[in-house]
Amino acid sequence: MASANNALVRAFFILTLVCAVCAAKKGGAKKADAEAAAPAPGGAAKAGADGTFDISKLGATSDGKTDSTKAVQDAWDSACAATGSATVLIPKGDYLVGPLNFTGPCKGAITVQLDGTLLGSNDLAKYTASWIEVSHVENFAITGTGTLDGQGTGVYTKSKTDCKAMPNTLVLFYVTNGTVSGIRFLNSKFFHINIDTSKDITVKDISITAPADVENTDGVHVGGSTEVSVTNATIGTGDDCVSIGPGSSGVTVSGIVCGPGQGISVGCLGRYKDEKDVTDVTVRDCVLKRTTNGVRIKSYEDAESVLTASNLTFENIKMEEVANPIIINQYYCPEKVCPGKQSNSSLVSVKDVKFRNITGTSSTPEAVTLICSDKQPCSGVELIDVNVEYAGKNNKTMAVCTNAKGTSKGSLEALACLA
Ligand SMILES: *[C@@H]1O[C@H](CO)[C@@H](O)[C@H](O)[C@H]1NC(C)=O
Ligand SMILES: *[C@@H]1O[C@H](CO)[C@@H](O)[C@H](O)[C@H]1NC(C)=O
Ligand SMILES: *[C@@H]1O[C@H](CO)[C@@H](O)[C@H](O)[C@H]1NC(C)=O
Ligand SMILES: *[C@@H]1O[C@H](CO)[C@@H](O)[C@H](O)[C@H]1NC(C)=O
Ligand SMILES: *[C@@H]1O[C@H](CO)[C@@H](O)[C@H](O)[C@H]1NC(C)=O
Ligand SMILES: *[C@@H]1O[C@H](CO)[C@@H](O)[C@H](O)[C@H]1NC(C)=O
Ligand SMILES: *[C@@H]1O[C@H](CO)[C@@H](O)[C@H](O)[C@H]1NC(C)=O
Repeated sequence: MASANNALVRAFFILTLVCAVCAAKKGGAKKADAEAAAPAPGGAAKAGADGTFDISKLGATSDGKTDSTKAVQDAWDSACAATGSATVLIPKGDYLVGPLNFTGPCKGAITVQLDGTLLGSNDLAKYTASWIEVSHVENFAITGTGTLDGQGTGVYTKSKTDCKAMPNTLVLFYVTNGTVSGIRFLNSKFFHINIDTSKDITVKDISITAPADVENTDGVHVGGSTEVSVTNATIGTGDDCVSIGPGSSGVTVSGIVCGPGQGISVGCLGRYKDEKDVTDVTVRDCVLKRTTNGVRIKSYEDAESVLTASNLTFENIKMEEVANPIIINQYYCPEKVCPGKQSNSSLVSVKDVKFRNITGTSSTPEAVTLICSDKQPCSGVELIDVNVEYAGKNNKTMAVCTNAKGTSKGSLEALACLA
């Protein structure tokens, strides 16, 4: 009973966290005891004759109604225990599944070939933190023409006070050399992809779709990870298309068509204790369509950690009626849940941030907003060829800036606000 009680306590902990914006932007899933790969169950051997473990031969039912969790979990466990590279095959068809633990270490590289659709069970009691969690795996890929459908529409709650524990769709946790490509993501209950404490990760050629009015349905979140690239993706959700959290470095985001949503952001920073720096981030060749923010850096007003966000480049970005196309906010404090003591001394420094060749239109007059702190001004900010025009009538494009230091070149006069 003790473990059941622990699970309850844990679920409740997550439940309370989810109520706050930015809450679970840190790690998706932390399992206390990562179990070792299970031995191949009887019968799996013939399904894996050529290194391919086909879930339809392991008891999965493609009617979209019968629970196929065990078949998919067995396919992973067998593939993971197999010598040499192995494939988990999810053929065409709809398969209903609850939480899956794709836990390693595995004996060889593993590919999940997703040609069908996995439907996330809406029995929330089954979940701890994630739906599909890949953890402690080296050389992992998930690819194909299939779909991960979180079926979130069945459980979304529009009321901010009615908080529920919701699972991320796909979590990469302690993954090295991982690829997510080709597949579609639909209606995650929480983040669609959460890359946590991983390195050498490529996400490409994917699409992510969720309703515009459901928060925490972030497209791709990167936290505590290095050498991550997210390229060629169409993302429209109710939250950030891509968000880059503490402890991340060497992150490249390119070729993203984003909208609806809250744009592409670095942050939130400073929400929790012991957060690490964010460095060397490039966001380029993206189009933002009617998003609430374009490119954004957000840090808590009274941070719990001392950290620096530096060497961030945002270039060749097209804005289409974006509300806040360029925004740095060192006074981010959603719903007044700031952890600190209102000391007005931001502990998160922001420096060496380039905005280059950013064009298009904004839906509010404030095309550039740089709200930096008095004691910790933003430094080394460059606004180069920033030409975003207010799309509306009876007003003109403008910049709102405090304590932002750096240089402007080739930008609209009204936006060149740096001191
Ligand atoms: C995955 O792990 C969680 C927590 O350790 C457990 O409750 C759940 O039953 C596991 N799921 C499967 C399919 O093994
Ligand atoms: C990364 O993983 C893929 C399999 O997904 C493998 O083919 C490739 O060799 C690995 N790269 C490195 C550097 O190990
Ligand atoms: C981008 O991804 C889409 C799938 O979302 C794919 O059809 C297209 O070929 C990819 N483009 C490139 C240049 O790879
Ligand atoms: C800044 O980051 C880019 C990658 O985004 C990297 O290539 C470059 O070396 C970094 N510059 C410095 C000064 O660290
Ligand atoms: C500016 O960015 C646009 C994409 O938004 C790109 O087409 C254009 O080539 C870029 N210009 C330069 C000078 O890099
Ligand atoms: C912090 O700033 C706010 C608004 O500028 C002000 O009302 C408050 O008194 C300041 N607090 C401290 C401790 O300086
Ligand atoms: C123009 O926009 C600014 C900023 O939103 C606002 O303060 C001002 O009142 C607007 N002016 C007019 C004439 O609407």
